[in-house]
Amino acid sequence: MTGSLEGRVAFVTGAARGQGRAHAVRLAADGADIIAIDICGPVTDSITYPPATSEELAETVRQVEATGRKVLAREVDVRDLAAQQQVVADAMEQFGRLDVLVVNAGILSWGRLFEMSEEQWDSVIDTNLSGAWRTVRAAVPAMIEAGNGGSIIMVSSSAGLKATPGNGHYSASKHGVVAITNALALEVGEYGIRVNSIHPYSIDTPMVEREAMMEVFGKHPTYLHSFAPMPLHPVHHEGKSGLSEFMSPEEVSNVVAWLAGDQSMAISGSQIAVDRGVMKY
Ligand SMILES: NC(=O)c1ccc[n+]([C@@H]2O[C@H](COP(=O)([O-])OP(=O)(O)OC[C@H]3O[C@@H](n4cnc5c(N)ncnc54)[C@H](O)[C@@H]3O)[C@@H](O)[C@H]2O)c1
Repeated sequence: MTGSLEGRVAFVTGAARGQGRAHAVRLAADGADIIAIDICGPVTDSITYPPATSEELAETVRQVEATGRKVLAREVDVRDLAAQQQVVADAMEQFGRLDVLVVNAGILSWGRLFEMSEEQWDSVIDTNLSGAWRTVRAAVPAMIEAGNGGSIIMVSSSAGLKATPGNGHYSASKHGVVAITNALALEVGEYGIRVNSIHPYSIDTPMVEREAMMEVFGKHPTYLHSFAPMPLHPVHHEGKSGLSEFMSPEEVSNVVAWLAGDQSMAISGSQIAVDRGVMKY
């Protein structure tokens, strides 16, 4: 192995599928051993897209192992601090260090702030914001103890930097992730640990439900201004410019891998848009 993360260990939450799986596999391809957790089941009744499954987490394990790296995978809810602390303790016993943390698990539901149920509000805040803090709470003491510095990548969203009418609770949770990112960057800098947030937009995963979005935009057409098409149409090697409504999880993983490694050593406390320029509208 000659990967840029060789000898390091990365912990990825929400790793059964979507972006979390892509990040776990990419960090492994770059040389890191992986700790992968996911709830592998429904988070709450108000989520209308299908939940991740045990089989999907097993597939992540298979893909990580195919790179030649080791993986510790477990079905854990990020709302459960004790369970996350147990995974970290077991990982420290197995791997002896923890260098990279990708705080990725999240959920999305739709509704106007003045109409949604308490359950919708609570489940999104509990998972996306309090769950993210619980991951940090479980993992950072081990990173400090290991004494190798490290990189924490907090997965926010374009909704963590701007208004998203129709999912204001999600936006509130992702703005909260920015607050965690920036305070934590100052708190752990003295241990050589960097903390940055990424802000993806329109990634092709099961979370993005076209029908649910169309229903919201059908009822409230002005909301479409907040969900604009991406201005950048990348030119691929075949020479064709690719206009696509969505980005692939792997495109986000390229940014995560850069933030995880030493090439981004100068970057901490930053908000990195992964959105092909759409935030500039
Ligand atoms: N898809 C997008 O367009 C987009 C855009 C911006 C940000 N994001 C964020 O990216 C992250 C990954 O989402 P995705 O697009 O891959 O969607 P996804 O639904 O495919 O993946 C999310 C994963 O997190 C897991 N998860 C959810 N709640 C959990 C909990 N309580 N405990 C443990 N695991 C839990 C799910 O089981 C699932 O495997 C999320 O934080 C999401 O908010 C997504």
